Amino acid sequence: ADTAAARTPAELRAALAARGGSRPTEINRAAELLLAQREITATLAELTALGGRPRYRSVDFREPGAVLQAVKEIHAEHGRLDGVVHAAGVIEDRLVAEKSAESFQRVYGTKATGADALLTALEELPAAPAFTVLFGSISAVLGNRGQVDYAAANDALETLGAAFAARTGHRAVTVHWGPWAPAAGHAGMVGVELAREYARRGIRLIDPEEGTAALLRELAWGEESATAVVHTASGW
Ligand SMILES: NC(=O)c1ccc[n+]([C@@H]2O[C@H](COP(=O)([O-])OP(=O)(O)OC[C@H]3O[C@@H](n4cnc5c(N)ncnc54)[C@H](OP(=O)(O)O)[C@@H]3O)[C@@H](O)[C@H]2O)c1
Repeated sequence: ADTAAARTPAELRAALAARGGSRPTEINRAAELLLAQREITATLAELTALGGRPRYRSVDFREPGAVLQAVKEIHAEHGRLDGVVHAAGVIEDRLVAEKSAESFQRVYGTKATGADALLTALEELPAAPAFTVLFGSISAVLGNRGQVDYAAANDALETLGAAFAARTGHRAVTVHWGPWAPAAGHAGMVGVELAREYARRGIRLIDPEEGTAALLRELAWGEESATAVVHTASGW
């Protein structure tokens, strides 16, 4: 009840701090968790209102065994798996000199270990999905300051997807997105600081409605043999 009225991260941190007894890092983490949980609840409600029957299940994509189990269970429950979108990812932007091996591994592993496990799991199904989309980043194509781990991870994603397509003959496309603008209730990866930096460089953000439409167009009419495409709102 004491956090219900707090909408912004700053308001949430203030409400949590008022409880007393927690360190600032614990307060930050608790606020982030609350915001993430609210976003999940809101997304499920939005999808339900649109007529979908969403189910939420939390799986750490750096754990290949857990990924395999999730894919098998979902397939067993529905008897089929028509399409897959891999959009897990984290950023921890820092210059190379300030980057730790653990941080690199978190950023790289969430994408590369996760996608490798996912594609391996899909290969074990009796019938592969009609499409598999991997959410990559323009940073893999053109590079970005502070994102050596993220760029490598998204490049690896493309390589893994292309190898899967070549091995199995099934469609797998990596979409290397430019930065997206936040949507109502869905902040996404581009926080206030990053958005300011893009604005300074004259880089426009993808409108969420247009980004979604672009993905659907890509799936409906895109060249099926293409293993990677770039979608961005402006130059880089
Ligand atoms: N937003 C952009 O401008 C942009 C641009 C280019 C590419 N992309 C790519 O698009 C995808 C979605 O981005 P977004 O902006 O929606 O980011 P976001 O809001 O930060 O969402 C990232 C998602 O990844 C999940 N995730 C993180 N670590 C994970 C792990 N170890 N196992 C499983 N899931 C994990 C998070 O789940 P939890 O909350 O449960 O941790 C969260 O749902 C990412 O792959 C990103 O690289 C985004």
